[in-house]
Order: sequence, then C-alpha cells, then structure tokens
Amino acid sequence: MTVSSAPAKVYVFGEHAVVYGEPAVPCAIQRRARVTVERREDRRIRVRADDLTLDGFTVRWGGDPDDRPDVDAPEPLVEAAMSYLDGAIEQALDAAGRSDVGFDVTVESDIPLGAGLGSSAAVVVATIDAATRELGVDLDARTIADRAYRVEYEVQDGQASRADTFCSAVGGAVRVQGEDCRRVDDPPALPFVIGYDGNAGDTGELVAGVRSLREEYGFAADTVGAIGDIVRSGRTALDDGDVAEIGRLMDFNHGLLSALGVSSRSLDAMVWAAREAGADGAKLTGAGGGGCVVALDSTDRTRTALEYTPGCETAFRAELDTEGVRADE
Ligand code: MEV
Repeated sequence: MTVSSAPAKVYVFGEHAVVYGEPAVPCAIQRRARVTVERREDRRIRVRADDLTLDGFTVRWGGDPDDRPDVDAPEPLVEAAMSYLDGAIEQALDAAGRSDVGFDVTVESDIPLGAGLGSSAAVVVATIDAATRELGVDLDARTIADRAYRVEYEVQDGQASRADTFCSAVGGAVRVQGEDCRRVDDPPALPFVIGYDGNAGDTGELVAGVRSLREEYGFAADTVGAIGDIVRSGRTALDDGDVAEIGRLMDFNHGLLSALGVSSRSLDAMVWAAREAGADGAKLTGAGGGGCVVALDSTDRTRTALEYTPGCETAFRAELDTEGVRADE
C-alpha cells in the first residue's frame, strides 16, 4: 500500500488567460488530497473516494462503465472525477512500463470538487505519485506535473494550462507561462481568506466560453491580454511583498474575469463582502461559475463578513503550502 498527498491551490492572478499563453501565479495552500493505492493482480481499478466536497460523499466504482458510482454529487462532476482518476492511473502504468496490474484506489480530500481550488490537479498528481511508487518507480515532481498536465489536457478537451498541475506537484507560489513553469523564490506571506458558495463550475465549459468570446470579439481578446498585464505588474508587488498592491491588482483581475462571463452572483457577492470588510483585495479563483473566492486580509473581518454573506456556505483562512506532492504515511 502506498500513500501520497498533493495540495490545493488558489490563483493570486491569471486563471483563464494562462490558457492562451499569458502568465499566471497560483499558490499552493494547506489543504490536501490524499490518495492510497494498493496493487491488484487482475487489472481492475476500484476507486473509493470520501469527502470530495466539504459535505462529503462516497464513491465506490468498479471501473465498469455500466456500474455507475452511487454518490450525492452532480453527475458531470462525478464523471469528470472518474476520468481524471482513470487518466492518472494510465499515466502511472505508462511511466512504470506496466499494463498487467490494477489498483484499489482510495481518495480522501478536503478540497471541494470543482470549486476552483484545484481538486482535480491535486488528485491526479497524488494518484500518479502513489501508483508509480507502488510499482517501484520514483518520479520527480516536474515529471509528475508533466504527466498530470497530460491528463487534464485530455479530460478538458485540450483546454488546459500547466498551472494547476505544476503548482500542486511542486508546491509554494509558482509562475506559469506556457511551458515555462517555475517556483517564485521567497514568496511573501499572503493572508489568504477563502469563501466557498458550495457550488461547482464546469471547467471545460467555462474555458470554452472564454475561448469563443475571445474569438468573437477583439475586446475580449484584449481583456485576456489585460489579465496578462496585471500578472506582469504583480511581479514587482510580489517581489516587494506589497500586499496592498497585490490586493488592488486582484480586484482588477476579478473585474476582468467577470467581464469574460466566468463570475456568478454568489462569487460577486462574496467578493463585495470581502472588499466591504476591508480586505486588501478579492477575486474568484480557478475556472469560476461558482465555487470559491480568495481575499487578502490579515484580520478576522473578511472571514466573519463572508460567514454572514448570503450565498457563502463556508469561509476559512488558508496558509501557503511550500510542499508539493509528498509520500504520506
Ligand atoms: C482552472 O483551475 C484554471 C483555468 O485557467 C484552466 C487552466 O488553466 O487549465 C481556468
């Protein structure tokens, strides 16, 4: 039996635009997906997953397409979760040069599914690491990130950046632009507060929506480019640890994501609640459509305000996780 875990992430800046070659800065946070795998000799994959949302649900699935998992979660989300897991196992078997084994896979995660915190990337990264180690192969974090990216690319119909998977594999704050993925040296301590509306967005659909806007309107393409400009401006603020400036740029970034149609009423309500509570800045994080906002506030005011915001299911503080994928007990 082999156990690995990998962290969730928030985007300080740059989601969606990163798909078109603009830079983005995601940060790993201290919430993890933990994957246990045990080799089987019969080539079947059996998956058990608890707590893939904050409310929790359980998946028992025999790998047979007719044998649908019995879960209390929207069908497309479950299907996507299963495709990510299948893809991760395929990558692990390929990396180990094996096709003659199967696995019992158990996923435990405190990252809400489809909520913008990179649950799929964390599960895929941890699964590839655990399954390859179970077969006696040790991959470095960059190789795991690369293989995890191929899974996301496949499941999201070719519409994925390397940002989520790289961040989850290596941990810390990272800067991703196309194939250029690197860690940010000595990132500032950012006082992240997260608000979660209990909903989930469909990443593939949201990315496709931005793509068609970008193709239809020059000004939508300019908006994507302007998000890239925000990330470039944010570089100095990140180097200087200037939280007020980072927050101002996050506010701007949210406005542009909203213009691209990926915000929602509850995400906007949480962003405004955070701003009115005195947060340095607030924006949606991840694909949008529902899910989470990330705000910067070193006081308790934003978390408290979010807890009283209609549409916000839960609010919590999140610390940067400097560790990426790791072997667990
Ligand atoms: C989703 O977490 C982030 C997006 O930028 C898609 C991607 O980068 O693959 C919307």
